[in-house]
Amino acid sequence: MKQTNLFYLTIMLFIMAISIGFSSNFSSDNFSEKELEEKTENEVTDRAKSLEGFDKMMQVLTHKRCVNCHPAGDRPHQGEDSHVHNFNVQRGASNFGAPAFNCNTCHHEENNDIAGVPGAPEWSLAPREMAWEGLSRVEIARSMMDPEINGNRDLEHVVEHLTEHELVLWAWNPGVDNEGNPREKPPVSKEDYIAAVKQWAENGAVIPEK
Ligand code: HEC
Ligand code: HEC
Repeated sequence: MKQTNLFYLTIMLFIMAISIGFSSNFSSDNFSEKELEEKTENEVTDRAKSLEGFDKMMQVLTHKRCVNCHPAGDRPHQGEDSHVHNFNVQRGASNFGAPAFNCNTCHHEENNDIAGVPGAPEWSLAPREMAWEGLSRVEIARSMMDPEINGNRDLEHVVEHLTEHELVLWAWNPGVDNEGNPREKPPVSKEDYIAAVKQWAENGAVIPEK
């Protein structure tokens, strides 16, 4: 009789030990971390949501306010018709113009609406490899994500540049031209554009085939 009791007791203790082990396993950090990881992994690949962000974001990146300063050749473009920059302005060795005639000779940290000269900090030409002129939106996106071209940026830094850089944000405060006419802003508001960039990135940074 005593021996049978001991036997049951051992089994009960054994079962208790297992279930305690189990439940503590379930509630352990390891488990919930893993669960979270799986969840976010599923969330980052919402293709449709990412593409929706892409469509909106690319309406801005293909706009002349960006492309005028990301030209194919060695000369910036100007205006709504994207004509080649006046005064024979050239890229120069450092994308900052010729030594005695650099961008800052005329472009300052802010727009000069009296003279019609746009301005923002570090005004200079996008490097030749970051040329967007003549590229499709898909080609622009691929180039922007290519570490060999984009200055070794990962997705986080591309997003940071797209949503915070002063030359980018200037596009929504573009001032007036030398005839006093306001420059056209991109077709998407700044807030909607920033939200679109984040929606695109957070859902997988999907670049469509076309
Ligand atoms: C006045 C000139 C100028 C304007 C206007 C301009 N950019 Fe740029 N952009 C540059 C320069 C210069 C660089 C290189 C700076 C660097 O790498 O830090 C650059 C780099 C970039 C890069 C990083 C390079 C890459 O391939 O990923 C992105 C993204 C970018 N620009 C987006 C834009 C967008 C979007 C707009 C318009 C809303 C815009 N830029 C307007 C000058 C300009
Ligand atoms: C001699 C003065 C001068 C110099 C030097 C100069 N710019 Fe300009 N830039 C202007 C003026 C003036 C405008 C405005 C023209 C207009 O819109 O009517 C302008 C417009 C632009 C625009 C057009 C913005 C837009 O979207 O319409 C870009 C881009 C630009 N400059 C880039 C540069 C870069 C990059 C450099 C240096 C490599 C440079 N500029 C050097 C005077 C200058």
